[in-house]
Amino acid sequence: MTSGTEETLDLAALGEDFTRDPYPVYAALRAKGPVHRVRMPEGADAWLVVGYEEGRAVLADPRLSKDWKNAAPDLGVSQVSAGTTMLSSDPPHHTRLRKLVSSKFTPRRVEALAPRVRETTDALLDTMLTAPGRRADLVDALSFPLPIGVIGELLGVPFLDRDSFAEWTGTALGSPDEGARQEAAAAMSQYLAGLLRAKREQPGEDLMSALIHASDEDGENLSAPELMGMAWLLLVAGYETTVNLISNGVLALLTHPEQLAALRADFEGLMENAVEEMLRYDGPVETPTYRFTSEPVDIGGTVVPGGGKLVLVALADANRDPGRFPDPDRFDIRRDARGHVAFGHGIHYCLGAPLARLEARIAVRRLLERCPDLTLDADPAALAWRTGMLIRGPRSLPVRW
Ligand code: HEM
Repeated sequence: MTSGTEETLDLAALGEDFTRDPYPVYAALRAKGPVHRVRMPEGADAWLVVGYEEGRAVLADPRLSKDWKNAAPDLGVSQVSAGTTMLSSDPPHHTRLRKLVSSKFTPRRVEALAPRVRETTDALLDTMLTAPGRRADLVDALSFPLPIGVIGELLGVPFLDRDSFAEWTGTALGSPDEGARQEAAAAMSQYLAGLLRAKREQPGEDLMSALIHASDEDGENLSAPELMGMAWLLLVAGYETTVNLISNGVLALLTHPEQLAALRADFEGLMENAVEEMLRYDGPVETPTYRFTSEPVDIGGTVVPGGGKLVLVALADANRDPGRFPDPDRFDIRRDARGHVAFGHGIHYCLGAPLARLEARIAVRRLLERCPDLTLDADPAALAWRTGMLIRGPRSLPVRW
């Protein structure tokens, strides 16, 4: 058993290579053991967990708190959020928030969005297909506007100021500058407060209106900070991630022509599994939100001290662990990708997974059906990737057809 005395690995020093392709770095760490001390590009020191078994165990370990009240004061980062959210709460608060939203965000509500997802996808593709020179940036044309439109529809904010919103969340989630992250979160809080005021005055059939009036078993409504947190979490989690499922998935297909051809030949039989493989092979969440030790925790033989140390799980590596997925660096839309942890694991397992899957299946299929000769219009090695360790995806994805 060790107490993690190895030197701290400065991930920022690995530069753009790590941002573009973190997988070999994680694999090299995994070869040495499951737990490593790292300095994140965001500036904080963390205990990074690699590998499938240990990663999954940590995600479900109640000794690791999601509540920033339990974070050590000298971490070098502070919480970036608006209001209080279930993703940064532990039971019983987490249980209450999750129950309240689950009772409103039902499979029926998701299924009911399918025709709207199809319509929006087709309208976006109609516009894309008129682009001069038959070239476009897929992020701008489809990956970004689809999920933000769908989540706006679900929440009842169709007139969301998308450009400002995207800039704020991009900065809040991925900027290396703590001041900039906080400033962006403050701007978003102010904007969300306005949206919630408007919803209170003019309620509709949407999820946000339902949440304003929702009450738990004790008859308690969501408090103002809880409502704000819920709006922030659903909006941010609802599109920042799905954007990159579409982009990373299409990129994987375009760089693996034999897989693309197989999918084109059998959408009906392969589309669902292809999306699971996209999630496994290059999922949108590289390392999920922070966890803090509430007591010393032995992870695969390394004891991480208690007192609010930051523990980070490399989902990206868990999904490429050869002990769980044979030949893990091979993109294979026919493989059994079940058990991947792209949506997390345990009590914080992604609430929006059915919606994300629905959007990706429709978007990727319609894109390929309507562009039979779609190709990448850039050197894949030259694509610019989003910074930060939370979200993984290309900033733009040039395509032609
Ligand atoms: C491909 C798209 C998506 C991916 C890869 C993804 C991934 C994740 C992951 C990894 C977590 C767990 C984080 C952790 O344990 O620290 C999570 C939680 C969550 N996700 Fe997603 N997500 C996606 C789409 C969505 C959508 C569309 C929504 C909502 C409409 C959503 C809402 C949430 C919420 C509310 C939580 C917190 C659940 C809790 O704390 O109990 N996500 N997601």
